[in-house]
Amino acid sequence: MNGFRPPLNLRVATPPTWAEAAIADPAALLSDHAHCEKKAALNALNLSQSFADTPRASVLLARLAEDELNHFRRVLEALQGFGWVLRPDQGNPYAQALHKLASKGLLDRLLIAALIEARSCERLWLLERAGTGHPDLGSALWLSFLLELERCEAGHALSYRSLAEERFGVLAESRLEWWLDREGEVILTLPWRSAVH
Ligand SMILES: [Fe+2]
Ligand SMILES: [Fe+2]
Repeated sequence: MNGFRPPLNLRVATPPTWAEAAIADPAALLSDHAHCEKKAALNALNLSQSFADTPRASVLLARLAEDELNHFRRVLEALQGFGWVLRPDQGNPYAQALHKLASKGLLDRLLIAALIEARSCERLWLLERAGTGHPDLGSALWLSFLLELERCEAGHALSYRSLAEERFGVLAESRLEWWLDREGEVILTLPWRSAVH
């Protein structure tokens, strides 16, 4: 184990050596993360269409989309601050692999979102630790931003899980157990690259 307690009890812990591979190309890492934050904002907005009849859930998803849009802007600003250019989106093989396994519509979309947030949280925590002493990613400003992101994504993981439980009841709990096994299998098959997943 790497010492981190993820918000959803992920089955597989990322080895701390992963972070060394991830920060090998910091501009690629930040570019990928900017694209991820943008997709997270869009995903929250898309999911809100399924909760139009539930005001509390609609507000929660709107707030979540705002958080992600704020993260997107700040990662872009960090790229600019470091003097790096946003690179093209290479896609996210982790999210793609999870979505390929989905078969239960909205329930799976919510649980996949929860898992991606939980895994992001774990990996941001590892990046925060690995960044200390790095010429660019070791700055106090960047490390405090990572800490803020990590806490925010942990809250998002719990929000998506609670949305799934409120809409689908006990089915959400058993399906999450199934998904935790699948997520553990998927994360072990993916090669490491300069990206959060
Ligand atoms: Fe985010
Ligand atoms: Fe998030």
